[in-house]
Parts: sequence; C-alpha cells; structure tokens
Amino acid sequence: MNTKIKNIINKKNKSKIISLTAYSKNIAQIIDKYVDMTLVGDSMASVLYNYNTTRKISLDTMIEHAKSVRMGISNSLMVFDMPYNTYRDKKIALVNARKIIKKTKSDAVKLEGGSKIKEIVNYLIKNKIPVLGHLGIMPQSVRGKFKSKGKTERERKKILNDAKILEKLGVFAIVLECIEKSLAKKITNEIKIPTIGIGSSVHCDGQILVTDDLIGLTNSKIKFVKKYINISNNIETAVKKFKQEVKQKKYPTKKYSY
Ligand code: KIV
Repeated sequence: MNTKIKNIINKKNKSKIISLTAYSKNIAQIIDKYVDMTLVGDSMASVLYNYNTTRKISLDTMIEHAKSVRMGISNSLMVFDMPYNTYRDKKIALVNARKIIKKTKSDAVKLEGGSKIKEIVNYLIKNKIPVLGHLGIMPQSVRGKFKSKGKTERERKKILNDAKILEKLGVFAIVLECIEKSLAKKITNEIKIPTIGIGSSVHCDGQILVTDDLIGLTNSKIKFVKKYINISNNIETAVKKFKQEVKQKKYPTKKYSY
C-alpha cells in the first residue's frame, strides 16, 4: 500500500487529518506543506466554471487541472474526484481511473456513493486503484437544494450501513459531507478507517474544505465554510495600486526596466 495512504489510515485516533482542494499548481504548492491530502475536487465545476451542478464538469477538463496540481505536490496524497458519469459501471470506471492515474499521477480516486456503487468500488480496489469514499450529501446526485443528512432514523441507518460496506470493500477513508454530528460521531467510532468531514462536526477524524472558500476567493455562504482570510481584498488592493502606478507613470521604474 502507498505509504501516504498508510500514514493517513494510521492517523485515526491519533491526530487529525488535514485536507484541502486544489485546482492548480500555484495553490497546490502552497497547501502541500500543511495538508495530508490534496483533492482535485469536482467542486471546480461551480467554483471555477460557474456551473450550477458538478455534473457538468468533464473528465478531460479535470485531468488538465490535475496535471497542473501534480506539479505543485511533493508531500501530500493527491486524490482525483471522479466526475459524474465516469464510473457508471465497473469497466468504464476502471478505464477512466487508469487514464486518470496515468495522465495525472494521482495517488487515488474518490467516488460518491455506498451500496449503490459497491461493485464498482470493489472492482477498482481489486484492480489496485486506491479509493476514497464519499457519503452524506453527494453533489453529483443532488437535484435542487442541498439538505444535511442523518435527520431520520432510516437515513441514519442507511448512511452507517453504507460506511460499513465501503470499509469492508477496502476504501482507505470516507468523506462525510453535511452529516448530523451524532451520526458522524457514530460512524467515526464504528469504522476503523478515517472519516474526513465537511460540515459534519468536529467528531470526524479529519476535515476538508474547498480552498477557494477558505481563503475568500469565492463568496460562499454555506454554513460550514469558515473564511480564514479574504484574499479577494488583497488582490483588489494590489490591482488598484498597479492601475494607479501605471496611470501616474510610476511603474515601471528603472528597476523594473531593461
Ligand atoms: O469536490 C469537492 O471539492 C469535494 C470536497 C469538498 C469533499 O468533493
């Protein structure tokens, strides 16, 4: 098993797993020193391309972003989020996963779903493709508004059962998206592999966020998004200053000319 994956699994009950998204080399090389896992997320569909659903991003577009991300990574585990329709059956999933790994040198792939995709996950793992699971809100299946998960007993049982199925199949960790906190805690306690939460409480073994949200490049109003900095303000300040200096012929000075 890939040593980076082993290290992530070994963090369970010892130290929190840190994970963020990256869609380009520039962001990847900044976060890489601090995260255990970098996800090339299909969230780029809305974050970068303004699509109203992650279903619209293509595999080839994501591959180009991932090639860029790869250049910025030397420490963390690189996971590629398989986009909608690229794992609709096990054979298609394997062809696409192999293409992703060959072209982007990703270490693993992420798939959304539990029992419904168990044969696909099983087939990938049997063919030596490391898989990260994803339960709770699964954006590729959502039509309309996103609603947190784990409010009804039926839903709770289904998600817990799905987590156990994924664990048995051999996924190395599971992303839990917007799951009610007592259920996130129960899943985390009842499975031996790590859970990585996004809007799923402090009880998960690690956390993931979309980097563009965390640094304030997006205007996300989602409840779980904490803006640690508003980088848009810094960019605006720099751009305004550049504009002013060009107009006033203060830039470029001798220092910046040949
Ligand atoms: O696409 C994505 O960025 C994700 C994470 C936020 C979990 O799936």
